[in-house]
Amino acid sequence: MAKMAAAALTREGGEDAFRRLFRFYRQRDASDLRGVVDFSAPGGQVFRSQLSISSVSDQDAYRAGLQPVSQWKAYGLKGYPGFIFILNPFLPGCQRHWVKQCLKLYPQKPNVCNLDLHMAPEKTIDLWGQSKEQLRKKGSSKWEPRSLLEKLRWVTLGYHYNWDTKKYSANHHTPFPSDLAFLSEQVAAACGFRGFQAQAGILNYYHFDSSLGIHVDESELDHSRPLLSFSFGQSSIFLLGGLKREEAPTAMFMHSGDIMVMSGFSRLLYHAVPRVLPNPEGTALPSCLDQALSSDLPVGSVIEHSSDEDWQVCAKYLQSSRINMTIRQVLAEGQKFPEESGTKGKGQAPSEDGHHQDNSRAKRHKPNTDS
Ligand code: OGA
Ligand code: MN
Repeated sequence: MAKMAAAALTREGGEDAFRRLFRFYRQRDASDLRGVVDFSAPGGQVFRSQLSISSVSDQDAYRAGLQPVSQWKAYGLKGYPGFIFILNPFLPGCQRHWVKQCLKLYPQKPNVCNLDLHMAPEKTIDLWGQSKEQLRKKGSSKWEPRSLLEKLRWVTLGYHYNWDTKKYSANHHTPFPSDLAFLSEQVAAACGFRGFQAQAGILNYYHFDSSLGIHVDESELDHSRPLLSFSFGQSSIFLLGGLKREEAPTAMFMHSGDIMVMSGFSRLLYHAVPRVLPNPEGTALPSCLDQALSSDLPVGSVIEHSSDEDWQVCAKYLQSSRINMTIRQVLAEGQKFPEESGTKGKGQAPSEDGHHQDNSRAKRHKPNTDS
């Protein structure tokens, strides 16, 4: 009897297989990470995946800050056709460019970020300028108030995802950053998707107490195009599930520089990020971020040299953070958005945090003893 009641309760509580594992990995002291797939030491479920080497010239790879595609280590995962994991293919020093863009440039207007939702527009014009001194001075041990940059949770690019209606729309669009579009085109082409158009981006900013809730990215109108995901800074556990939440997900590590491609069958699978972890080397930053950029960049490179001062700010930020960029093609070639019906959708998504969940002080307005 008690057993039946408990079963009914877990169903009512929505405790499906995905949720159970999400909660398991979200626990701070989840010390049993043996079951987590690590593509840098591939095991049984992992196989080497062939890329489309001839689709990207070495010159274009270099321009995007990437190694020649013939040198990339790409993997598939049994049971997840269309899922491709690329182990950090960035050239030395090049990840730093994307980190700087995500912190200094992309949060700027006309792009949209979570802080715009409850702050006066003039207060979010220069998050970088307002935060850099505070960040640079920050000690590593004692708790200090978060700078504006550390309160950033998400930024949207191109067609701006509306967290409430869960839709993109024709009339909420700003130019997509050309450097990031170029990077995305090369990665998509290497995975067999020539002609990919980077039309929308969601940048997620995580700290050690953040997680990203269980979701499917289905708002794009063309699901035949892949979803690209780039990670920088500290590591995370990523959960890749099935078409239903009752299917138990596979847990895997994502480290700095790693790229994930969700396409075909895997394009519409449930996924989540239950946990952000210190990088496995145990150093403040992973060693791939210590590497300096080559002094001679190729003609047409989208990677730019950045000042030591800028990098110091980024490095400080990344000591306790992870940045993820997900890039999407929204419309098929030649496709247009359907006419608006005039009825505005009502969503339940918490706008402020996107699908982020966290237990940061900033959100709860009270001290939190476990972090
Ligand atoms: C997303 C997403 C995964 C990540 O933004 O839709 O799934 O690793 N991000 O942050
Ligand atoms: Mn997603």
